[in-house]
Amino acid sequence: MRAIRFEQFGEPTDVLKVCEVEEPVAKVGEVLVRMQASPVNPSDLLNIRGGYSTRPELPATPGFEGVGVVETSGGGLRGALLKGKRVIVLNRNTGNWAEKVAVSSQFVIPVSSKLSLEESATFFVNPATAYILVKQLLRVPKNQWLLQTAAASAVGKMVIRLGDYYGFKTLNIVRRHDQAAQLRQIGAKYVIVYNSAHDNERILIDQIRKTLGHASLQFAIDPIGGQTASSIVKVLGERAKLILYGSLENAPLDFLSRELIRNGASIEGFWLARQMEAFSLPEKIKLVMTLTRLIRKGVLSTEIAARFPMEQIAQAVIEAERAGKSGKVLLTMQQEF
Ligand SMILES: NC(=O)c1ccc[n+]([C@@H]2O[C@H](COP(=O)([O-])OP(=O)(O)OC[C@H]3O[C@@H](n4cnc5c(N)ncnc54)[C@H](OP(=O)(O)O)[C@@H]3O)[C@@H](O)[C@H]2O)c1
Repeated sequence: MRAIRFEQFGEPTDVLKVCEVEEPVAKVGEVLVRMQASPVNPSDLLNIRGGYSTRPELPATPGFEGVGVVETSGGGLRGALLKGKRVIVLNRNTGNWAEKVAVSSQFVIPVSSKLSLEESATFFVNPATAYILVKQLLRVPKNQWLLQTAAASAVGKMVIRLGDYYGFKTLNIVRRHDQAAQLRQIGAKYVIVYNSAHDNERILIDQIRKTLGHASLQFAIDPIGGQTASSIVKVLGERAKLILYGSLENAPLDFLSRELIRNGASIEGFWLARQMEAFSLPEKIKLVMTLTRLIRKGVLSTEIAARFPMEQIAQAVIEAERAGKSGKVLLTMQQEF
């Protein structure tokens, strides 16, 4: 069977190869899944570059999420029940960018027949992150402000729609003017264009304060880090909370401690994998049901910009990071998709 592999950490276009490898065999407690599609997420690319929170043993096959059909079970009741079912594969060990993958039956979730292939392939990582951040950790109340950076990302667009759906206001920061136009089309009312590489931080801070008026900023989320997140720290209100959930700028934070001392604001990190470990089984089931409902309503939907077969992995990873791309890139493992 074919699998995408890398033997050393590095630039995805340099190190990823399509290889002919032996088909895996499901052990007891595992299922063998015939993969259909898997998105190219920033976390996959960070993992290939060696910067992710966990590092795989090399050689490794990337791919944290995706959709497929359970072909065989290595034994166990759960595996037997899953046979023949279309499932979402949440593979924290990575390995989904292959025609087949053997994973713990605990890592797969039967998918509702009401969801399309694209909706199933991108079912969890981004929708769960958006939902947990704003509804379970920050619990942004109605009519309050939530500031977010990288707002044109897949997660960012979901947060904007969650704001519309639950009635809180989003203040969206993007780095290019065409992204601002895109976001206004999906209903964003407040968008600021700021690129830390060449724009003045003072102008960003003034624009944020002007938009907020007399309101205090209590809630913020940031997947960029570096200069952008450091600037956001300076506009946090009394006892505000900022959650950092990515490091797209790959640069450290830089601000004076008195920025936090002044207002008692706090900064937290968020990693979905860690968060999921804290959830009980009923909480996980409830989350999957909520995500299914919100994806079907379009609130947590993912726009697919392009699909690439495995042989075109180099084009797929270039497209996934192209500035101005309009949505997610999907890798497809089978001809019919
Ligand atoms: N912590 C977790 O558990 C968790 C879970 C899910 C997602 N995430 C993180 O959430 C973020 C968004 O993921 P996604 O899949 O929604 O991303 P995506 O759809 O691929 O979009 C990435 C966005 O970030 C922008 N961007 C990239 N580098 C940037 C920089 N240095 N400064 C400002 N903007 C930048 C891009 O703008 P351009 O078009 O201008 O390049 C694009 O709009 C990622 O950092 C991802 O790792 C974290």
